[in-house]
Amino acid sequence: MRMAAGNSGTRRALILMAAALSGACSGPGAENTRSVEVSTRAVATGKVLFATCAACHGSDAQGRIGVGPRIASESYLAAASDSFLLHTIREGRAGTTMVAWKDRFDDGQIEALVAYLRSLHDVEPADLDESPLRGDVANGEEIFRSICSGCHGRAGAGYQETANGTGIGRRAFLDSVSDGFIRYVVAHGKTQTAMRGFSEQSKTAVANLSQQEIDDTIAYLRESSW
Ligand code: HEC
Ligand code: HEC
Repeated sequence: MRMAAGNSGTRRALILMAAALSGACSGPGAENTRSVEVSTRAVATGKVLFATCAACHGSDAQGRIGVGPRIASESYLAAASDSFLLHTIREGRAGTTMVAWKDRFDDGQIEALVAYLRSLHDVEPADLDESPLRGDVANGEEIFRSICSGCHGRAGAGYQETANGTGIGRRAFLDSVSDGFIRYVVAHGKTQTAMRGFSEQSKTAVANLSQQEIDDTIAYLRESSW
């Protein structure tokens, strides 16, 4: 959704100023930045370590339906910040088979894993729309029930319910992603998976959700997260 250009420009400037003043980034996934160095050496180390992950995510992170999501997806890697990937590997996703790996691997090893994942697709960071979310929860619930729940489960529990999409209703997922990340993935889909784009602007869209309807769905997910 395009807000009055002046407004969002000012807002962006304020956010940049606030970030510069506090000298810190605002949490996992909040900004789509890259901090991990993708050196040949780190990629090689990460590839070896990824053997631990391959049983669920596939030998080349291509995913195994109902077992581990695909990570080698262009749109997904474009939308995912390094802090989001680092956080997900360190902390896992509570309530799913994706356990926290921080006791098993040190920071350098986890960074090497991220370097390896980055090496799978050389994509520019997506420009995420992080404008404030103004969604209608009731409308979002209807959209979720009629479109998303078939693959992600009625409670959004993911694999434990449907063996198809991941657990997007879980707090462990929602607390680690920004609205901009979800907006992007819902609009553009997760390429190379069954998650198609839902934006009315997308050529391959399976439904025609407007930006407002996507925001409604996100508002519902945030409101009902568990
Ligand atoms: C026992 C199976 C299993 C193993 C082993 C495993 N994962 Fe996962 N992983 C999962 C599942 C299941 C999810 C999605 C959970 C959800 O949110 O529903 C996931 C999610 C992820 C995600 C987020 C992807 C997304 O779609 O949001 C990343 C990144 C990830 N895993 C990396 C790793 C890495 C790196 C390793 C090895 C150190 C690893 N995983 C090992 C099962 C596994
Ligand atoms: C046809 C099945 C299908 C439908 C319908 C569907 N999804 Fe998905 N979704 C998936 C799959 C499959 C994945 C990726 C899992 C994988 O890689 O194995 C996914 C991934 C996602 C992700 C990324 C989650 C993560 O773990 O990183 C989000 C966010 C998402 N979907 C939101 C939605 C929303 C919102 C809707 C409804 C508008 C929706 N999906 C409808 C199948 C679907």
